[in-house]
Amino acid sequence: MSTQSTPLSRRRFVGAAGLVAGSMITRPLFGQNAASNKLNVALIGVWGRGLAHYDSIAEENVVALCDINEARFPEALKRFPNATTYIDWRKCLDHKGLDAVVVCTPDHTHAFIANWALKRNLHCYCEKPLAITVNEARTVRATWETKKDKLATQVGMQRHANPNFNRVRELIRDGAIGELKAAYAWGNRQIPKPGYFPEEGAPPNGFHYDLWLGPSPFHPYNPAYFSGGAGANCLSWNMFWDFGAGQIGDMGSHTMDLLWNAVDGGLPTSAEAKGDAYNSDVTPVKCESHFELPANDWRGPISVSWYQGGAMPSSPKKHIDLTQISHGAMFKGTKGFLIADFDSRLILPYGNDADMSYYKPRKKEDMLPDLGHFQKQWFDACRDPSKPTACNFGYSANMIEMMLLGLVAYRTGKKIQYDGKTGTSPDTPEANAFMKKEYRDGWNIDG
Ligand SMILES: NC(=O)c1ccc[n+]([C@@H]2O[C@H](COP(=O)([O-])OP(=O)(O)OC[C@H]3O[C@@H](n4cnc5c(N)ncnc54)[C@H](O)[C@@H]3O)[C@@H](O)[C@H]2O)c1
Repeated sequence: MSTQSTPLSRRRFVGAAGLVAGSMITRPLFGQNAASNKLNVALIGVWGRGLAHYDSIAEENVVALCDINEARFPEALKRFPNATTYIDWRKCLDHKGLDAVVVCTPDHTHAFIANWALKRNLHCYCEKPLAITVNEARTVRATWETKKDKLATQVGMQRHANPNFNRVRELIRDGAIGELKAAYAWGNRQIPKPGYFPEEGAPPNGFHYDLWLGPSPFHPYNPAYFSGGAGANCLSWNMFWDFGAGQIGDMGSHTMDLLWNAVDGGLPTSAEAKGDAYNSDVTPVKCESHFELPANDWRGPISVSWYQGGAMPSSPKKHIDLTQISHGAMFKGTKGFLIADFDSRLILPYGNDADMSYYKPRKKEDMLPDLGHFQKQWFDACRDPSKPTACNFGYSANMIEMMLLGLVAYRTGKKIQYDGKTGTSPDTPEANAFMKKEYRDGWNIDG
């Protein structure tokens, strides 16, 4: 391991190029692969999901690796031998010359790291979910609003690059089911747990449990939080209120994205939810939440629903068994239904006048272009932030804020009105306490 010294960091290089060109647009002066065109990248959370990002970050200068478990460094350093290692992401973000950060840590740290990264003018790719409370989503979005012209952001909802996402959107927009009225998404993953694990054993040497807890309230160490395989260990902790948002943050992020991409949703005006009996340790397994979304410039108001853990929307026809789709979405229009999983879709015209004459399919040349490699889209935008990313922190914060509001409504046990401007419920003041959570002393999301 060593401290990488960059004689001319990319940011300074780009600044010089901008000066010469008299423009803020970032343009490489040399060939696409010139060392000076590479971004200085940090990977935070180097094992598990982090491994899935090795190949794409290897195209750049990986200058920093951060993990609370020092046992993960030797393997990571084999791949990125020039990187400096950190155990505390707050120090890692201050690595000299850093341009961009990829965040693969547990959910309860995402909004913190993302917000700190933006405030340090770092491009940020953050694994899903972007936040675990309504307030966290709002905090990150507020910072992003002030930086979005300069910084590239992306939340790790990589299924978004499936061409099916575009096809579903086109069918809805082109009127294949008439006027959109309602949309439903669901996921059937069920990982019941009774409560936080009791204290057991001690963290191994080099495993910094206090940093793993980070901003979360204290819970004693138990190896069961760390017993999962690479990329699946999140299923050992993401159902606990202090570490995640259950299936809303897990498969819910991916599945609601299929819906969200097609409806151009903003923040809801109401939420209601029901599910398993409330457990102060664990988020509900079975739960459904319903939201009212205002009209936008191409459709009227719609309702949006999320179902999980065995709760399901009703099928429009008995012979269509929605439970055969483990994670899917359904759209209801005035002339029929569209049902989709991540890579296929079907249309069900419905009613005597559902003759499809209202459907105006677009020409081949007007089809939405393929997104390409999901993470490359972000790297391209890091080089030129005027380029779009599909799941930037605006789009993704709105989506997860709505989903998390469902958990707020679940905890109040009532239908609540929501004021998206203030992030409060005008008619249910007790809901406001559930929009946020307590953090441990010394941890500040706005650092
Ligand atoms: N996009 C996807 O399809 C996908 C798939 C799997 C996981 N994920 C997401 O990736 C994230 C990580 O999941 P996982 O299963 O790899 O979890 P994990 O528990 O295996 O943790 C990943 C790595 O992060 C390290 N880590 C933990 N806390 C840290 C901290 N504060 N600072 C630095 N490093 C820390 C761990 O030691 C580990 O090496 C989760 O948020 C999960 O939702 C996304």
